[in-house]
Amino acid sequence: MQEKFYLTTAIDYVNGAPHIGHAYEKILSDVIIRHKRQLTDKAFMLTGTDEHGIKIQKTAASFGITPKELCDQNFNQFNSAWKELEISYDKIIRTTDEQHKKTVKQIFKKLLENGDIYKHKYTGLYCSGCESFLNPKDLTPDGLCPNHLKKPEEITEENYFFRLSKYKDKLAQYIKSHPDFIIPSFRVNEILNQLENIEDISVSRTKASVRWAIEVPEDEEQSIYVWIDALSNYITAIGYDIENPSEQFKELWPANVHVIGKDIIKFHSIYWTAILMSLGLPLPEHIFAHGWITIDQSKMSKSLGNVIAPHDVLQGFNLEHPDAFRYYMASAALIGRDGNYSDEDFKEKVNADLANNIGNLLNRTLNMLVKYFNGEIKPESITSKDCKIAIMAENTKQQIIEAFNKYEIAEAANLIVSFSDSVNKYVTENAPWTLAKEGKMHECAQVLYNILEAMRHIAIMLSPYCPNIAADILVQLNEKQDFSYSNLYWGGIKSGQITQKDKIKPVFLRLDSEFATGKKKG
Ligand code: ME8
Ligand code: MG
Repeated sequence: MQEKFYLTTAIDYVNGAPHIGHAYEKILSDVIIRHKRQLTDKAFMLTGTDEHGIKIQKTAASFGITPKELCDQNFNQFNSAWKELEISYDKIIRTTDEQHKKTVKQIFKKLLENGDIYKHKYTGLYCSGCESFLNPKDLTPDGLCPNHLKKPEEITEENYFFRLSKYKDKLAQYIKSHPDFIIPSFRVNEILNQLENIEDISVSRTKASVRWAIEVPEDEEQSIYVWIDALSNYITAIGYDIENPSEQFKELWPANVHVIGKDIIKFHSIYWTAILMSLGLPLPEHIFAHGWITIDQSKMSKSLGNVIAPHDVLQGFNLEHPDAFRYYMASAALIGRDGNYSDEDFKEKVNADLANNIGNLLNRTLNMLVKYFNGEIKPESITSKDCKIAIMAENTKQQIIEAFNKYEIAEAANLIVSFSDSVNKYVTENAPWTLAKEGKMHECAQVLYNILEAMRHIAIMLSPYCPNIAADILVQLNEKQDFSYSNLYWGGIKSGQITQKDKIKPVFLRLDSEFATGKKKG
């Protein structure tokens, strides 16, 4: 039986438009899920938007529109960005969906019944940026919110609280005994330290302070505060219901991975895990926290005016599909580390890897096949025995599966490129043009076959990052469009298979620097 794979992304706040930091997470997630689909039919990706809270209420008011109107507008922007980037989600949830709201109320009530939520009058330091009360121990030496560098407000309210302290030891125990629960592992100590100081958390606000929210069941004065609402999306979206969970929920839960940014690990590995424990639900297998995308080495921010929308990159470089951007983003940072975007690096990286390394290799080889054999491939042998390239292809495949199991997405891309490097070296060493000149046509055919069979492997392995380029490579090889890993065996291209001359063209054109920057400003 095939194993299922359920991946979720963070759900984006719709108080602004999508930028390439949001895109980074969705691309990483999409690359992972496309890879899993190469191995199983039961891979499911959830993404969505986080639509409640004071920030949305205030932003809408500042535009003179209703919060729902703001949510609709920005939801559409996020969704069309994901379409343009070919994010192949199976479901996109909005926290304003009726089903979600209904289930969140049910969850709240259940936690109340369990005695894990209680009402309490409280004075605390509230950061509107975090939409969260801050622990005084977490402030900067000047008393500012460490994330927003803003002075938190002192607020007194009677709110509902979640008894997080009750789960402290159990959580610490769980995290320590599951060393790959939080990925990458260099984040684990940070979370264990935060857990030491953990206190019960406020899970509601008065309606007077936050109107745009799900109501606390049977208490008209209180709004459910964002995190319980937002985090629950991972189960409400697939049909969780306390009385009557859906078949889909039973099949997919627990999630295999929650993909999130490093700024919200605490909410996932502490708050969410405790909520799940209280609900009596199994915990997700992994929480994978990616790093931050900076622009020209600085933080993206509206005030710096350096926020880049993914659409502007695709349009600025006049890209016909998102592959180059997807590839660049997915390889922007080693696991969990920050990555940087700059137009210059983007051009250099995709020209080097996609155009020069992989694209040229295919193009040169197919042109030789046409020139020497009229496009028909007839090798002496299609077995991997004693074929150096075949052995390398098999090793690369295994290493890629392992890298994906560890969420090393950029590292997996590097494995493909270094395999392609090796094939390029093989071409130089074996000089098929010399073989042809010397009339050694059998040997020449064999070398070309090995290269093209390697290209077929590269296309399949590259497809999660670059689905269009991969499809194009398979077209030019006259191969079926099937990226399944079951096709990764040596000898897939049959003897006698024909490449059609008129289909041969570069799979990726170098980004012309002048043209690209010229267009970008316009
Ligand atoms: O945090 N680089 O929403 P959000 C990389 N609604 N990732 C970035 C980024 C950047 N520059 N900027 C943002 C929220 N992100 C909550 C999540 S989940 C139940 C609720 C990532 O719109 C960020 O880390 O602020 C998060 O994972 C996602 O984008 C949405 O951020
Ligand atoms: Mg954020």
